Amino acid sequence: MPWRNTRETYGSVAKTLHWLIFLMIAGMLTVGFIMTDMPNSPDKFKLYGLHKSFGISVLALVTLRLLWKAANIQPVLPDGMRVWEKWAAHAGHALLYVLIIAMPFSGWAMSSAAGLPVSVFGWFTVPNLVAPDKALKHDLQELHETLAWVLIVAVTLHVLAALLHHFYYKDNVLRRMLPFCRGNDAQDADSGC
Ligand code: HEM
Repeated sequence: MPWRNTRETYGSVAKTLHWLIFLMIAGMLTVGFIMTDMPNSPDKFKLYGLHKSFGISVLALVTLRLLWKAANIQPVLPDGMRVWEKWAAHAGHALLYVLIIAMPFSGWAMSSAAGLPVSVFGWFTVPNLVAPDKALKHDLQELHETLAWVLIVAVTLHVLAALLHHFYYKDNVLRRMLPFCRGNDAQDADSGC
């Protein structure tokens, strides 16, 4: 498996970053909704701390992912796709990046506005983004929750589009992002992908 992208498939670095960020986002959304519903307890504050630390880690990973994307060629979309479909795919991916960056920033700014500096796994503390401000904290809390719902819808559409490519159009769009497939019809048929 190549570690850099080719015109046909994503390389192992892009695939690893894609699936790692996907798992972390799924975990962050789940823990986010669970922890806010918990009554105050040491466990709740531990979860808040982990949520913040993993959230800042998502920001670092998505930065790495965008740098890697800029340094690599991108696999081309299938010829059979119409112009508007290709445009929609690119717009959908851009929206996902915006949301994945906006989620941690809104959480980080919310903590700053609450007057709670954000420690990353107890290793270091990131600088406050805004001064403490109760009204702003409330607005950022609302924004963080709204963005979470928009992200859930965007990820669901992204997954449905990938499944449509795989099961309806039967092209290589999903296979070329799967960890053990190569995105090449002949090689994937041999390996049972
Ligand atoms: C990918 C990144 C992130 C995702 C997907 C995410 C997701 C969520 C979700 C779904 C909630 C529950 C919203 C609600 O029902 O009110 C939540 C709450 C929260 N998040 Fe995040 N979050 C992320 C990053 C961060 C970061 C980086 C921080 C801080 C550094 C943070 C701080 C908080 C706080 C303090 C709450 C609780 C708000 C409250 O008490 O109502 N989040 N998050």
